[in-house]
Amino acid sequence: MNGRDLVRAVKDIGTERGRRAWRSAWRHRRSDAVGLPRRGAERARVPGLLTGTEARPGGGVLRFARSELVVRVTVGGAVFWSWDGAGPTPSYAVVGEGPEPDPRAVLEPDTGGGWRVVSERVTVAVSRHGALEVRTPGGAVLRREAPPRWWEPVDPRMGAARWLQRSEVPADARFFGLGGRAAGPRLRDGAYRLWNTDPKGGFGPGVDPLYLTMPVQMVVADAGTHLVFHDNSWDGRVVLREGEEGAGSGADRPGASELRMEGGPLRCWVLVGTPARVLQGWAGLTGAAAVPPEWALGYQHARWGFGSAQEVRRVVAGYASRGLALSAVHLDIDHYDGHRVFTVDEGRFPDLPELSRELEELGVRLVSIVDPAVKAGDGVHASGLTVGAGGAFVRDARGGEVRGEVWPGECAYPDFTDPAVREWWGGLYEERLAQGFAGFWHDMNEPVSFAPFGDTTLPRSARHALDGAGGDHREGHNVYALGMARAGWEGLVRLRPAERPFLFSRSGWAGMQRYGGTWSGDVESSWEGLRASLALVLGLGLCGVPYSGPDVGGFGGSPSPELYVRWLQLGAYLPLFRTHSAIWAGRREPWEFGPEVAQQAAAVMAERERLRPYFVTLAHLARRTGAPYVRPVWWGTPEERRLRDCEDAFLLGDALLVAPVLECGADRRAVRLPRGRWYDTATGAAYEGPGQILLDAPQGRIPVLARAGAVLPVRGASGGGVRLEVWAPARGRTGGGVVIRDPGPGFEAGEVERYTVRWLGDAVVVEDEAGNPVEGVTVRGL
Ligand code: GLC
Repeated sequence: MNGRDLVRAVKDIGTERGRRAWRSAWRHRRSDAVGLPRRGAERARVPGLLTGTEARPGGGVLRFARSELVVRVTVGGAVFWSWDGAGPTPSYAVVGEGPEPDPRAVLEPDTGGGWRVVSERVTVAVSRHGALEVRTPGGAVLRREAPPRWWEPVDPRMGAARWLQRSEVPADARFFGLGGRAAGPRLRDGAYRLWNTDPKGGFGPGVDPLYLTMPVQMVVADAGTHLVFHDNSWDGRVVLREGEEGAGSGADRPGASELRMEGGPLRCWVLVGTPARVLQGWAGLTGAAAVPPEWALGYQHARWGFGSAQEVRRVVAGYASRGLALSAVHLDIDHYDGHRVFTVDEGRFPDLPELSRELEELGVRLVSIVDPAVKAGDGVHASGLTVGAGGAFVRDARGGEVRGEVWPGECAYPDFTDPAVREWWGGLYEERLAQGFAGFWHDMNEPVSFAPFGDTTLPRSARHALDGAGGDHREGHNVYALGMARAGWEGLVRLRPAERPFLFSRSGWAGMQRYGGTWSGDVESSWEGLRASLALVLGLGLCGVPYSGPDVGGFGGSPSPELYVRWLQLGAYLPLFRTHSAIWAGRREPWEFGPEVAQQAAAVMAERERLRPYFVTLAHLARRTGAPYVRPVWWGTPEERRLRDCEDAFLLGDALLVAPVLECGADRRAVRLPRGRWYDTATGAAYEGPGQILLDAPQGRIPVLARAGAVLPVRGASGGGVRLEVWAPARGRTGGGVVIRDPGPGFEAGEVERYTVRWLGDAVVVEDEAGNPVEGVTVRGL
């Protein structure tokens, strides 16, 4: 027990829930003591020397004395390699069988007794000892892998081999990704664990890991950008060390990444190219991102502890009477009966279907929290027991149901890695739809079991179906929430085939974008929390999860009016724009912070509404191209090194550069511009990048710049229709952009409209694809 555990333990023992959590934690410890194989003696192994090769489509097999390596370049350029014969499937991340091998990639001898696979976009070279290099076609090394090392139990019944993979990247490289990291977006030197974890009670930048980890790194260097994915859901640890360029001496120290996994296959995907190319490849590999319904791109209000339907009505009326656009209200666990999922407290919420109809007339949807843990002995539990041969719930090594402690008390956990369980769970959303809910907020799905000591999750020995493969929680843990998202998504699609579901989830894994988005979880109400919330959104976007956002105002505290406004200003430019807070925390309605803040809030909320068509376009582009809505400022120019280190601003699509104020008391801020002309959208002033400028940012204002030549779809002044707002290109230059309008609530892809912008004499003209001038465009920046 460490210090933090001890404090937790002492605090918890005073309450009934605390005492139950103690008992549950002891039970988990005991079940691991009997159910988890003891590792015993281990033997270390490395591949040894190369003994032979065999060409295969896309590459080949390289045999070493004590292992074999498969290298395969696939159509589209994604590289797969694996040791010890692991294939790309089965996989929780990769869709279908994965991409086909590239028939043009060839295995051929390299210098020094090694071999290489040469393809159009990438070369993979393997040394006689099993070191591997990923090179650009020009020969620049993007990544160098040392031969891996395994530690296998001498007695094979004692379970999986642990392994270690050390890698080097160019000295100038920067690391991003690994899921949602509070300390990002640039991942500095340190250790990052791969184990989805509820940090309990709020987090700031120093806390790691958080709810949503994934073994996905994006590495950005002068030589090129690459994404590396170790397809393995086991517990692991990544240690990163940025490189150093030998000032003048020429002796660079490369960047280093070390990955240690507790088990599971050693298999890896690498995608190379520009950031946009890499994420397009990633979406091809792991699936296109779900497009949220149009209303989910508006402002949403959540609270733990609305208390009653009357209170919901009061809050909604508060927004309406002030003319503040509100898209959705989220009901937390307090609307459940006794905190039990798929129930309603009829006393405090006597007629939810009626409430939802009433709200819908005001343009407000209802979103429901959904927790995975099911109260032992209740109706949902009884129904789960009838699923398949053994019931729907996770069992321990001896066959008993694993029980944990969550909000409703003692709970059982559906095994979402079992297809029959997913189907059953998906059907349960029928009750939610009948209550009038239009969207779903998956929570506590790391999964959490309260514990005063040890891991706040299921015992590692707990058994999972793993879609037929069978295994334990060491392997099932990180994909638990992914399976829950799949269950919810597929269930909703079955129940309402004509509507795209709205789903976002606290935990998840590689590929979760197929089913929806995520949010920050319980980010602390502090300036550090504000900064962390941007880090999370940026980092997740670079792992292929484009839709996310923080609890505006932070989860657990009472932000100062200034912090609240700054958070709202940031949130207004992020995909999920939602205020939320804990039952014990201060309020989050804008008018609760005084008239000045109310006015400042109204301005930024109105701007979000105006930009809603742009968010719709970005949502559809994310689906089509894999590009996140929110991108680091280096997105289009990763070779601009100073931009790689810029963590306090971001690009929203191609058109806007958003520079939120993340510091207390600031009334102006420096903004580093990518190259090209940028307009301050508030003043119209033009600035030339690359370079740094200083902009006024009093409390009522968040600096936002527009790229010269950009085309932005915005909402018409009267509230309806989509208009184009165009920012003048520099003289002698052209511009353009694409617009995708909301095709409705279904799965239609939406039509891509392409526009070009150019100077014609002294005027800026906008033309559609057929070359016809577009009327009614607002041209700015003249
Ligand atoms: C967790 C969630 C939070 C929610 C609370 C009660 O802490 O992260 O958003 O309000 O549980 O359900």
